[in-house]
Amino acid sequence: MTQDEMKKAAAWAALEYVKENTIVGVGTGSTVNHFIDALSSIKGQIKGAVSSSEASTEKLQALGIEVFELNDVDQLDVYIDGADEINASNDMIKGGGAALTREKIVAAVAKQFICIVDNTKHVETLGAFPLPVEVIPMARSYVARELLKLGGDPVYRHGVTTDNGNVILDVHNLQINEPKQLEQSINQIVGVVTNGLFAQRGADVVITGTSEGPKIS
Ligand code: A5P
Repeated sequence: MTQDEMKKAAAWAALEYVKENTIVGVGTGSTVNHFIDALSSIKGQIKGAVSSSEASTEKLQALGIEVFELNDVDQLDVYIDGADEINASNDMIKGGGAALTREKIVAAVAKQFICIVDNTKHVETLGAFPLPVEVIPMARSYVARELLKLGGDPVYRHGVTTDNGNVILDVHNLQINEPKQLEQSINQIVGVVTNGLFAQRGADVVITGTSEGPKIS
């Protein structure tokens, strides 16, 4: 089974968590693209979606799924999204696709975060995947200096502007033993919009695509 087939298996298994007549929170990335395909197969049974990126919005609309503004939605039962890394406590690094801030906002609103991954995303310690940090453009150099003080090596993601008009610093060489604490410390640096650690709000359910079928944890 290829990595993409494992992503697809996890994505289709997530349909189990979608309730009839609800609005579904939808993340971003290649695994979520499979989920959007799956969701379109039951589009007559849901009200629509709230999306975490322009890219997902475009795909949802192209497949005939109505996309609602988050501000117009009172409640979201589930948010379904991928991850770049996930540990045994369901803390994640996200933001490889630069959509971390909107992802974190939609995840905060949802009652349940369902994370869909292939089995290469599971790690013992977070940090081998560079941690994305979304930064207000004029604060980029200052934030980079502050991130160095926290022990990481920030690298400016050239040519990328987020959906919110900001830039991304990818922080290399972090060994993240205290994800909740680091999430909070980085968010306190002036100029940081948010960072890709999802530990204060981790995943409630993880669906992992494996060659033996989807595994739930
Ligand atoms: C997008 O910004 C990310 O948080 C994605 O959820 C993450 O990068 C997973 O992407 P894939 O599903 O493409 O591996």
